[in-house]
Amino acid sequence: MKQTDYTATLSFSNGKPSVEMPVYAGSIGPDVVDIRKLYAQTGMFTYDPGFLSTASCQSTITYIDGDKGELLYRGYPIEQLAEHCDYLDTCYLLLNGELPNVKQRDDFHHLVNQHTMVHEQMQFFLRGFRRDAHPMAILTGLVGAMSAFYHDSTDVHNPEHRHIAAIRLIAKMPTLVAMAYKYKIGQPFMYPRNDLSYSGNFLRMMFGVPCEDYVVNPVLERALDRIFILHADHEQNASTSTVRLCASSGTNPFAAISAGVACLWGPAHGGANEACLNMLEEIQAMGGVAKVGEFMEKVKDKNSGVKLMGFGHRVYKNYDPRAKLMQETCNEVLKELGLENDPLFKLAKSLEKIALEDDYFVSRKLYPNVDFYSGIVQRAIGIPVDLFTGIFALARTVGWIAQLNEMIGDPEYKIGRPRQLFTGSAHRNVKPIEQR
Ligand code: ACO
Repeated sequence: MKQTDYTATLSFSNGKPSVEMPVYAGSIGPDVVDIRKLYAQTGMFTYDPGFLSTASCQSTITYIDGDKGELLYRGYPIEQLAEHCDYLDTCYLLLNGELPNVKQRDDFHHLVNQHTMVHEQMQFFLRGFRRDAHPMAILTGLVGAMSAFYHDSTDVHNPEHRHIAAIRLIAKMPTLVAMAYKYKIGQPFMYPRNDLSYSGNFLRMMFGVPCEDYVVNPVLERALDRIFILHADHEQNASTSTVRLCASSGTNPFAAISAGVACLWGPAHGGANEACLNMLEEIQAMGGVAKVGEFMEKVKDKNSGVKLMGFGHRVYKNYDPRAKLMQETCNEVLKELGLENDPLFKLAKSLEKIALEDDYFVSRKLYPNVDFYSGIVQRAIGIPVDLFTGIFALARTVGWIAQLNEMIGDPEYKIGRPRQLFTGSAHRNVKPIEQR
């Protein structure tokens, strides 16, 4: 963090003395005003619910330029990573700051592969859930429960513990997600196969059965790998901030990541791709492409409460770069599966075309986000809609861990403890019950 050659002055209209605050510059992006001494100097807090103008930390991991529609992991554009690297390379990059060389790559892939199995007792724990439990309920439980299975990696202040917890989480998430799915549909769990790629192994654990060989389709394998890369990190979003806040108390990494899973579950965050697919299915049921105009009128009518799901983003005010890559992947997967005429894909394209030309969307800078096409890809692969957020959690686990590690390693790290503007009753006395 570099101090700039200018400062910010906060002045008050009530005669209070003004205060001067340092301003820091990052490598790119907006400068920040350091308000840490504000309370000591003035007895006042700042007010920013939703963190609209507040940087909660300094970070070197992910950078988003929402106006340009740019996403960088450790400085590398997401488009280049999606084209030249696989998900485990991306994990290495996010965790270590650099892309691996050949030896580092081999060692890292080998290391992750050594940890794909989960403790056998996990099965019995999983079997305690009802069959109709939502996969995110199961995952929140299973990930949190890992702290009860792996006692040698629970000290968040010990770098070795954090390292092994990171590898375990990255390696075991696909196994846990697939187990949650198999449990729900009543099929036997498939043990991992370490000679397969990360995403190939996941496909087999999801769709293979013990009585038949499973042949991994390379197009689907690559598509899934790309979904994982695109969702691996996204700087200080709600679930990542949850993980940081949770781990700031010194809790163990598995507990902190399970808090991230719980946060991601919400429809305003990880649940949006599910909502987008449901929307497409609803329009399809209404009559499909022919009803697009009618649906768009509802979207533009503020009183209808209808939104075009998969459109708009708090940060991106341009085409989400992940949406472009996802559309490409969508084309590849549908072609491979002979689903080029998939009605939902046609419908999505027609909605996108209309929206990109319509003044309502253009003037509000509303563009497709990553969720607009990812649901169609996942559905084509055979992933059930209620597992979409679980796939997102699997992919985001590495981002959560990288951010957690960065926080613990930051000499300025403190337990997260926001302030408040209290608007409730001031001091009052308890009256006897008959007088209330
Ligand atoms: N459809 C129709 N109108 C929209 C949409 C949409 N999808 N998104 C925003 N708008 C409108 C709003 O009504 C508002 O209009 P107004 O200025 O006339 O009042 C304007 O665009 C600005 O929208 P805000 O809600 O203020 O933007 P915000 O940054 O708070 O919201 C959000 C971003 C929540 C993503 C929103 O665009 C949305 O709800 N989109 C649909 C859900 C979705 O796809 N979420 C996925 C996000 S990506 C992810 O989490 C991985």
